[in-house]
Amino acid sequence: MNNLSHNSPIERGKVIAIDGPAGSGKSTTAKIVAERLGYTYLDTGAMYRALTYYALENKINPADEKELAEIAEQLPLEFRRKDSGNLVFLNGQDISSQIRTPEVTKNVSEISAHFLVRQAMVAKQKEFGKNGSIVAEGRDTTTVVFPDADLKIYMDASVKERAKRRLLDLSNMGIESDLSEQERDINRRDKFDSQREHSPLTIAEDAVVIDTTNLTIEKQVDRIVELFQAAG
Ligand code: DC
Repeated sequence: MNNLSHNSPIERGKVIAIDGPAGSGKSTTAKIVAERLGYTYLDTGAMYRALTYYALENKINPADEKELAEIAEQLPLEFRRKDSGNLVFLNGQDISSQIRTPEVTKNVSEISAHFLVRQAMVAKQKEFGKNGSIVAEGRDTTTVVFPDADLKIYMDASVKERAKRRLLDLSNMGIESDLSEQERDINRRDKFDSQREHSPLTIAEDAVVIDTTNLTIEKQVDRIVELFQAAG
């Protein structure tokens, strides 16, 4: 028997998977945890956002599951690291800010709910993480994409706090909004993401739940790194 094949668990780096609702702090936290550990950061939400951006630009019906799944399979998507953060490129074009607009945010739930779209994206995500040494975050990374992750985290925060964070993000992008609009949007997305038929947002049985309502990013990062080290 050959235990040293390429995909052997002995050779594979570790996987940290972080799930949670919109605005729970998972992206910023996951990015810094990855930097600290020298791991790759995988923002699975950015993949669904990039597909949504492409669909809107090319006037593809968000209900057309088959066409969207075919596009998802071939989407020339690339992540590049830069001092300012993680950049998302589509066809060689930097679309990092375009995928965060309210229009993309409004449509991404419907597009990401399609079974065939998820199947295509999950295959890409598994491929991305096949050698481990990765911190992945999203809605189903602990349950579907990396069910054998070495550490699973579920991050949450109150709706008000999450709406405040979103408002700040938007204002940093020069987009005006108000707190009640963001609260409404977060409630709508929470409902959609956790009640959809395929891979809804749920807390994995073996996930550690971290409530970030009153935590700084630094504390969130420290907690995850501590858990990771304790897990050996
Ligand atoms: O984390 P985010 O807000 O950038 O994610 C955008 C949307 O993508 C979110 O509303 C639900 C969807 N998503 C998903 O269905 N599964 C994932 N693993 C990540 C995101």
